[in-house]
Parts: sequence; C-alpha cells; structure tokens
Amino acid sequence: MAITYDSGHRLFRLDAGDFTHAFCVHASGALISLYSGSRLGEGEGLWEYPVRAISFSPFDPAFPGFSLDDLPQELSTHGAGDFGASSVVVRNGGGDTVTVPVYRSHRILSGKSLPEGLPGTFGSEGEAESLEVVLEDPLTKVEFTVCYTIFPRYSALVRSLRVRNGGEEPVILEKAASLTLDLWPGTGEREVISFSGSHCRERNFARESLGQGVRLYGSDRGMSSHQCNPFLMVCSAGATEISGEVWGAMLVYSGSWRGELEVDQLSRLRLNLGISPQEFRWRLAPGEHFQTPEAILAYSGGGFDAMSQTFHDLLREHLMASPWTKRPRPILINNWECMQFDFNQEKLLKLARTAAANGIEMMVLDDGWFGKRDNDHCSLGDWRENTRKLSGTLAQLSQKIHALGLKFGLWFEPEMISPDSDLCRQHPDWVLGVPGRARTESRWQCVLDFSRPEVVENIYLQMEKILSLAQIEYVKWDANRHLTEAFSQALPSERRGETLHRYVLGLYQLQRRLTERFPEILFEGCSGGGGRFDAGILHYFPQIWCSDNTDVYDRLKIQYGTSFAYPPSAMGAHVASCWDKTRYTDFDTRGNVALAGTFGYELDLDECLPEERGQVKGQCQRYHQFHHLVEEGVYHRLTSPWESPLVAWMNVARDASEFLLTVVQTDRRYNARVPWLRLRGLNPQALYQDDQGHSMGGDLLMKRGIPIFLERDSQSLLFHFREVKEEGDQG
Ligand code: GLA
Repeated sequence: MAITYDSGHRLFRLDAGDFTHAFCVHASGALISLYSGSRLGEGEGLWEYPVRAISFSPFDPAFPGFSLDDLPQELSTHGAGDFGASSVVVRNGGGDTVTVPVYRSHRILSGKSLPEGLPGTFGSEGEAESLEVVLEDPLTKVEFTVCYTIFPRYSALVRSLRVRNGGEEPVILEKAASLTLDLWPGTGEREVISFSGSHCRERNFARESLGQGVRLYGSDRGMSSHQCNPFLMVCSAGATEISGEVWGAMLVYSGSWRGELEVDQLSRLRLNLGISPQEFRWRLAPGEHFQTPEAILAYSGGGFDAMSQTFHDLLREHLMASPWTKRPRPILINNWECMQFDFNQEKLLKLARTAAANGIEMMVLDDGWFGKRDNDHCSLGDWRENTRKLSGTLAQLSQKIHALGLKFGLWFEPEMISPDSDLCRQHPDWVLGVPGRARTESRWQCVLDFSRPEVVENIYLQMEKILSLAQIEYVKWDANRHLTEAFSQALPSERRGETLHRYVLGLYQLQRRLTERFPEILFEGCSGGGGRFDAGILHYFPQIWCSDNTDVYDRLKIQYGTSFAYPPSAMGAHVASCWDKTRYTDFDTRGNVALAGTFGYELDLDECLPEERGQVKGQCQRYHQFHHLVEEGVYHRLTSPWESPLVAWMNVARDASEFLLTVVQTDRRYNARVPWLRLRGLNPQALYQDDQGHSMGGDLLMKRGIPIFLERDSQSLLFHFREVKEEGDQG
C-alpha cells in the first residue's frame, strides 16, 4: 500500500514514485508535518520530532512547550498558537476567527474522482489512492476534510480541502488554501521560483532567495493571469536541471489565486496555495460545505528536469480529459494576425487555398465573424454569424473551406459582453457591476455574470447552435479582459463575496457541457494569449495559446517558462510574420520554435517573402515527422534562454530510441569557442545515427556532447537521431 496509517504512532505516510510525505496526529489533535522529500525506506523514528519552548510562542497548558507557532503542520489556523500564514480562516457566528481543528477520523480509498463542480485529477481504483483526514473544531463544529491523492508512479501528491459547517450557526469562510506545505528548516538555504510577467511576456522564470518573512504571489484579476502563473517552485539554493531538491506546486484553478510563502523565525518554510482570499467570503449555513480546487505538489531530489517530467506525465495521464490530449493536432492557420477584423469571404478563401496547397490542414476564423463586429467596440454576446461580411452563412463558408481539403475552426469569447450588443440591451443585469456605479471597461468590453446559471445557459445555447449548424472542428476560447466590479445582482448581499468563485464554477460548467456535447471538437484555451494558462483549463482543453507574442526570442523565454509545469503537447505555438518589426528572425527558426508546441501558422502566406512561403511545405512535413516526439516524448531543457546565447531542448522517445534536439542561437559571438552541448535522457549503451548517417554512442552524446556550429543570430539547428538496432534485433 502506498498510503499507510500506523495507529501506534498515529502516523500517516504517503509513498509515491521517489517521494514520501508523512505527518502524524499529536495528542492535542493537531496534524504535524514530519517529512516531505526523497522516498524513505522503513523510516524508523519518523514520528519523532523536536519540540522546544520558544519565548513568545503560545501553547496549550495541557501540552507545555508544544507550540504550533513553529511546528510544521498540514492545516494551519490563526488565533490559537500559530502566527504563521493560515491555511484557513473561518469567521465564526460570534465574529471571531479562532479555530482549532482536532483530528477526528480518516479513511483510505482507492481511486480518485473529480472534486465537485471543479476540474481536477482522476484515476481508477488501480491507478490512484486517496486519503481523507477529518478534523473538527470542538466549539463551532466546523469540519475540515484534508484530501490527499497519490498516483503510485509519480513523485507527487494532489491535495484539496473540504470545509463543512457542522454547527448550528452560519459561518463565513474567508480563506481556504488547497495546499499547505510546511517544511522543517532543513540543511541549507532555499529559493523560490515563480513565473511572472504581463500580456505578451508570460511565464518569465524568476528566481529569488528566501529570508525570514512572507512573500505573496498570485492574481486578483479574476483569472489565473499573465502576471503570475499559478505554479511555484521551492528549491534548495543553487538547484539546477539535474541537481538539488525541488518542490513544485500547481493550483488547478483559473480564477484569482494566492501563493503565500513564509519563512518564520526558526526557518520553518510554509507554502499556502489556493483561491485568493481577496474578495472571497463564502457563507456556510449549517450543513453546507465548500470544496476547494485541487493543488498538485511534485517533488524531485534531482533537479527541475525530473519535477517537470512528473508534471507533464501526471497532467497528461490524470488531469487532461480531452480525447485530443494524446492525438496529433491538425496544422492550422489562423487569420487574426494577418487580417484582424478586415476580412471577407474572398480573402478567407484565398488564404485557405494557399494554406491547403502548402500542407496546412485547418483554417481558423478568428474574431470578427459575428454580430456587426468590424472592430472591438461591439457584438460580444451576440453569437450569430454576420452573413453580410461572410457573404453567406458559417455553414456555407465551412463547406467551401472543407471543399479545399481543410478543416474549419472558429473563435469565441464566451464570457464577455460588449455594452453595444443585443444581449446587453436585453439583459443589462447579466453584466458584472455594482448598481449605481460606473463600470470600468477594458478593450471596450464587460464581463458576463457567469455566477448566474441562466447566463451560462444562454451562452451554451448560442454556442451549441453555431457548433451544430456548421461543420466546425476546432474552437478557440478567448477571454480578453480581467474582472472588475465583480458584483452579481443575483446574489443576496451576504453572499456577494462568492461571486468570483461562482463565476469560475460557471465557466467550468460551460466548458464541461460543451466539451461533453462536442467531444470531437478540438478546443484551444486563450486569454489575450497565455493569460489563463493553467491546469484548470487543461482539464477541459488539451492546448492553450501560449502568448500573443510570437517573436522568436521572446517565445523562447515564454515556452521555456511554460515547460516547467505544462507539457509541450499543451503549448499553442505558431509560425508568424515578424511580430517585433524591429528584428527579423529566420523563418526556419520560427518554424523550429513552433515545432516545440502544437504547431500552426498566423500569417498571410500570400504576402510573405517567396523564400519564406517556399519553406512552409517542408515545415509541415517536419511536423508530421517529429511531432510524436514532442507530443508523447520526454522533454529536457538543456540550456536557459535567460543564461545562454544558445537555447537548446530535446524531445526524446519514451524508450530513448529516437530524439530531436533543437538549438537556437540568440546572440552570435565572433571567434568564440565552439560550444558543446551535453545531451540528456539517452540510452548510454545505444548507438545513435542522425539523418545524414553520422553515428555516435549514447554515452558520448551525454558525456562529451556535440559541438554546435551556428553563425548568425536567430539561426537554429534540428538534430534528429535514431538508435541503430543490431541486425536481428526486433526492437
Ligand atoms: C486575443 C487573442 C488573439 C486574437 C484576438 C482577437 O488577443 O489572444 O489571438 O484572437 O484576441 O480579438
């Protein structure tokens, strides 16, 4: 069994992959964290831990010297000994927030089902084991169920929290973190790595050392955001791709979130990860409960590479539910970057014809096909095709595109509403906003109140109709602003603090209904590029547009940052015309960088240079030749775009029999030494041969590496090697 309970020592132990997480029940009923790290053997003595009285640290007189102020815990609360950042805050009927969760019971279950109303991980009885530990505050009878799941192959655990009001008075839940990870001081300094940025600069790798105090990460924008991705890593100081301890924590959530990292006076390190407490107030009437989103914690004792692999595989196997997750995606061309709102049927068909002739497989019609939308000032919410602009219906346009041999895809922005729209005129109260107060707009649009079921239903019916009437194989789901005045007119005043989370539940409900109704449609998430690149969206959609920024140099950084948590098969990446007009980058390299993700195009093929257009067919062929390595293989970052003028990564077949190495030069240096790259993840005994017939041993490739000859900026190389099998070898 991978989850065990030792009743003698009241010790819980979760063992998964190379990871052990352990905690025990103290005589007071508190859950004390004992260990979270490299897998342990027998672990004799694991239940022992140092307790010492610290001045100014309060304790229960029944247990002198035992203070929650400095002991690592699984579920922390404020007001009764622990001054650290709490996992939960419950405002009791009396107005106080003192809560003392005391262990009551637990159960161990096989399998894992989805958390109520939320995206999350799943696994059958043989694949997953779960533990639920129930604690209760003896006075208020508020109950806390801390839920853990492990998938025995992965060095990770999944955690969430359920809070139930078992008392007789209503209480207000003001904070409920999905994960609390408390680490004992350990042997050395620790660092934190976050993935921050802005629109067009998403998921930039940011590393900081940690001293005493609290650091906050997160988003209060109603969406997981471009500004800070809901994924954090804590690592031993100086950890690299292949060395050091790393704890990666990911929230499976698409709304406002908070990551709190605290190092206390005795160097206890606490990480709380969950819904942002800002604007969150959830009323629990007697008998009601609240389920938090899930968080995934992955551990590696050998650097970032192994941690990323755990996330990539765990997400693909146990979180991403779309049947497209493991299928090659059609190569698409999207008309946005070359046409914006200025298109008609003739222009679209011209692009589609050139695309089809060059090996592209799907045409995506982006923003501007509905209502009277010729600019971004109107029509969001009116999901009816503009037959004037399209010179016919969507069904007819789709037929014409199909007749050219292409599939057809369509853009929606389901959560948004333009003040200038029929929907807004009919239902002004369906828009988020505070009555009597002017609404802030962003890109001239407002946000629909998705906390209201009738609003979600209306959008569902509009989208369902479009998707049923025309042959549509792909949907791009956009969201181009953040939430302000998050006030629902449908909620009573004591429940207004529930609006933001109810909005996210409404969004998930719509995504679930549409993906269930149209399982064969390939959905791609988007929010002004990568503003909602998170595991919540990935539960429903197999891919997300990484960024509106398609400049190769910037993309290298964005895709590098994204790869720490999310698999390459989820990264929407396209070849575009030079996004940053001030720097021309090799067309070939734009293709090689897009090959690292889902691959497609966003440019006017008729307008681009003939020598560029001439490369498209070859790039499409490369996609078909290599994509299985990107999609199913193991991904290794060899260098960092933040540190090296040569950015390199590998996609290696699961059995190490084949690999693709991509190298891009971002800063050429005259007469400098020829750099060598040491490869990773190969079979040291195997002999590999590239497409030109050069052979090299796996151990040589990994120990000495290969020299990289590149002369120009933005030049790149692809190396494709296969294992040479001995004659008669059936492998
Ligand atoms: C967002 C998306 C773009 C495009 C536009 C359309 O910015 O990220 O790709 O779809 O919206 O308005």
